[in-house]
Amino acid sequence: MFQKIAVIGAGTMGNGIAHVFAQYGFTVSLIDVNADQLSRALATIRKNMERQVAKGSLTEADMQAAHSRIITFTSIPEGVADVQLVVEAATENIDLKLKIFRELDAAAPASAILATNTSSISITRIASVTGRPEKVIGMHFMNPVPVMKLVEIINGYATAPEVTTAISELSKQLQKVPCIVNDYPGFIANRILMPMINEAIYSLYEGVAGVEEIDTVMKLGMAHPMGPLQLADFIGLDVCLSILRVLQEGFGNPKYAPCPLLVNMVTAKKLGVKSGEGFYQYTPGSKELVVSPGFRK
Ligand code: CAA
Repeated sequence: MFQKIAVIGAGTMGNGIAHVFAQYGFTVSLIDVNADQLSRALATIRKNMERQVAKGSLTEADMQAAHSRIITFTSIPEGVADVQLVVEAATENIDLKLKIFRELDAAAPASAILATNTSSISITRIASVTGRPEKVIGMHFMNPVPVMKLVEIINGYATAPEVTTAISELSKQLQKVPCIVNDYPGFIANRILMPMINEAIYSLYEGVAGVEEIDTVMKLGMAHPMGPLQLADFIGLDVCLSILRVLQEGFGNPKYAPCPLLVNMVTAKKLGVKSGEGFYQYTPGSKELVVSPGFRK
């Protein structure tokens, strides 16, 4: 059913999604308004595919073929003209997403499915600005996309069952495990993950334990690959804050109120890995975890 797929947005998630579609044989239109971002994305995809070649999970020839299946565009109408599916992975901003979906609805073939990788914005709301709400669905990949097995599939209020089935089957073709959920704030992944991260930040804020202790308890005690504070840095503290606000507003429940320390860090532009500092400090090329000066004992 799917041969050609458009991915909107060439940031971390967009390039990861383009990577896996190309790896499993699909032709990909990677679309971003910023041409430099597209060049950086192609370089990142090559680097990540080279990691797979180095460990033997991809051959050199398959890598070359996969990489050449990705074609870049700076305009939506050009990039989506002949696709069967669009996966939108633009910045997590509702006004931007609504604008993109209006444009996609006008430019993509009437039969195309329009999916969004949103981590928390309502699928039903996004679908409402299109003339095809039954073909709008959430296809939520996890970071790093080439590594993480889950695809959280979110049914909007009007999503047609055959669309859910098609996206579920497609996820399996990418060697991923689909999990189908309904459209309520935070879906499942972030409804559970973000309160855990917020509670870890509260534990730090209230002086119950330090950064390393909190992360070590969860890594060694619960077998999490990263502690919740390191994971918050990895996701982006601004993203965590905005998802907590969606939960707080969507449920009207103060239990989701973001910790004041998280709010302060985002205001101070300490956003985690992408800004070079969050709960830890990051030096490009170094894997060493260094606690940020403000949190050192
Ligand atoms: N592309 C391809 N391969 C990659 C990769 C990428 N982008 N990133 C990592 N890898 C591979 C590495 O090559 C390595 O492969 P081998 O084990 O076969 O050698 C493997 O993944 C592990 O990577 P590293 O050795 O570099 O580092 P690590 O062992 O510390 O693992 C990690 C890194 C996979 C990120 C691991 O720490 C992890 O699983 N962390 C938790 C990630 C997580 O929870 N993600 C979800 C975030 S929430 C989200 O995305 C959704 C949301 O809405 C907020």
